[in-house]
Amino acid sequence: MAILAPSLLSADFSNLQADIEFVNQSKADWFHLDIMDGVFVPNISFGLPVVKAIKKHAKKPLDVHLMIVNPDAYIIQFKEAGADLLTVHYEACTHLHRTIQSIKQTGIKAGVSINPHTPVAALQNIITHVDLILIMSVNPGFGGQSFIPESLQKISELRNLITQTHSKALIEVDGGVDTTNAATIIQKGADVLVAGNAIFAATNRNMVVDMIKSL
Ligand code: DX5
Ligand code: ZN
Repeated sequence: MAILAPSLLSADFSNLQADIEFVNQSKADWFHLDIMDGVFVPNISFGLPVVKAIKKHAKKPLDVHLMIVNPDAYIIQFKEAGADLLTVHYEACTHLHRTIQSIKQTGIKAGVSINPHTPVAALQNIITHVDLILIMSVNPGFGGQSFIPESLQKISELRNLITQTHSKALIEVDGGVDTTNAATIIQKGADVLVAGNAIFAATNRNMVVDMIKSL
């Protein structure tokens, strides 16, 4: 059974507490929080004060996905805001190994995300140092986009790399995940599925969560 992390990017920001309570009572496992700076990605989402506010009501771990340049400058703040897992982008970190060490030094889990154009092979020298690899299956910046089919091959490649290196990293897949493709994504080797639009735009959200959790 995969871990399911609903992305609050697709939640109702005018009534965020209600959507947090929905996740609390559902079978979903984590909260996925997308932080966008308008520089690394062509969109701006929300920042530290909102993460802090979410933490007050969330009864499940906060999985924070930083789509920002210079994430090193904000590691401590996100830990203090309540992040349980902090994921940075491979493409945004010149000294990725140092960034991962800095996250771990704060006592939380560390993840690395790769964009659709970045090959899995680029992770070879970081794979044994991280708790999670996030494969972007859309170009980051927006919810509600379509899953890029080539991502499936990347999940398989990453599963092989993890086996070969005896890494304990979880594989998270983010972007365009829904009830039609979740089974294949899990079968290719994913451990964590992020879903925004598929859950929050559904008329019966619990049905979507239950269906994915039953796979
Ligand atoms: C995209 C974000 C995703 C997004 C997923 O840049 O990283 O987490 O919220 O949304 P859906 O599931 O709607 O593609
Ligand atoms: Zn995300």
